[in-house]
Amino acid sequence: MRIAMIGTGYVGLVSGVCFSEFGFDVTCVDIDADKIARLNNKEIPIYEPGLDALVERNLEAGRLAFTTDLEGAVAAANVVFIAVGTPSRRGDGEADLTYVFDAARQVARVMTPGTVVVIKSTVVVGTCRKVAQIIREERPDTEFSIASNPEFLREGSAIEDFMRPDRVVVGAEDERAEEALRRLYRPLYLRETPILVSTLENAELTKYAANAFLALKITFINEIANLCEQVGADVQKVASGIGLDNRIGGKFLHAGPGFGGSCFPKDTSALAATGARHGAPLRLVETTIEVNEARKRDMATRILTALGPETTGKRVGILGIAFKPNTDDVRDAPSLVIVPALQAAGVEVVAHDPEAREQAEPLLPGVIWCDNPYDVANDVDVLAVVTEWNLYRGLAPEELATRMRGRSVIDMRNIWAGPDVEAAGLSYQGIGKPAAKG
Ligand code: UDX
Repeated sequence: MRIAMIGTGYVGLVSGVCFSEFGFDVTCVDIDADKIARLNNKEIPIYEPGLDALVERNLEAGRLAFTTDLEGAVAAANVVFIAVGTPSRRGDGEADLTYVFDAARQVARVMTPGTVVVIKSTVVVGTCRKVAQIIREERPDTEFSIASNPEFLREGSAIEDFMRPDRVVVGAEDERAEEALRRLYRPLYLRETPILVSTLENAELTKYAANAFLALKITFINEIANLCEQVGADVQKVASGIGLDNRIGGKFLHAGPGFGGSCFPKDTSALAATGARHGAPLRLVETTIEVNEARKRDMATRILTALGPETTGKRVGILGIAFKPNTDDVRDAPSLVIVPALQAAGVEVVAHDPEAREQAEPLLPGVIWCDNPYDVANDVDVLAVVTEWNLYRGLAPEELATRMRGRSVIDMRNIWAGPDVEAAGLSYQGIGKPAAKG
């Protein structure tokens, strides 16, 4: 099996590298020559734990190659994955499929007969059939198969997610496509990973429904957290209590500043738009999007409230800018709403993030960056945890208290124990926590 992986974004790069780790020959293709040159130099364009070692090993073993030569890679492959971006279209929230269709056209022109074209990009239901149509128009006399194989990996644990998935979802409607994907995922059979083979539409919709459901679960617990704060309850206790019910499950019940990242915001918008377009409105998903946007703004309001009526000239320290830990990704991160809202109120913002500074700097002008998390506390009126990097969990409250000008700590990820922070003479506000006594 020879694989061509078109697109070396998050999904394409991780999947391509992991398939080479399974022993297949993989050529990853991208139009960005600089990125390809860096990858050939073993420089990884994203921060993803463990990826560098896999790239190095498989490049050296000759199973993995990076190139801008789509034609050569596709002509040599029997399975071609399309893993290019599907960004949100401005205005209507629909996914922009231009890159997928362009890639399909290019693949069609050079593929050999019998090629299996697999769509790995997250695409709205109906896209795979359109891609098949495009290929057929380009090469009416050439036999090929089409398949859908959505990816469920999370940034920060992408390799583990690829190697040990809960399930693999495949849309394949002929034997050649089904057989090719079963072979590619055979290494997972040892772990008895379910491989669900179904129609193209079922596979496409499964991906969106899964992401929307998870986004909805997070948003639900965030609203329960708001209620907890009003009635003196603790959202972590409530989440544990409901999560032990197998029908609910304990994962994705961490209340926080709202979901962000490259998938949930984009995919919920695309699913809501698809539902509206088909006359099957997804009201829960629409509401989830609205509630989540409002939540990010509410987080800024919490900080401004803690600063008191006069905010101009005050100073706030932010721990964590990435949308979640173990990534340098800041796409749709709550920090991108919180920080500008504080600055608009005349607040000076000081920030630390172990990995995301380079990505965030151009998006957050005026922020003062620190290399050491403790320095973020220097002379600030309020200190807020926005991303739960492990590095922050062990910071000593006494040290933070000594450095701070004000007393207020807002822990948007509930990583600290309130009583410990209060024992250092600070006031502690978590998410969905009862108000401090006295
Ligand atoms: C997600 C899906 O998990 C993955 O299956 C899909 O393929 C891509 O989208 P990712 O965006 O990498 O992955 O991150 P994830 O760990 O799912 O977190 C998404 C957002 O939800 C983050 O902003 C995170 O902070 C937030 N979140 C997650 C919570 O606020 N609470 C939770 O309990 C879980």
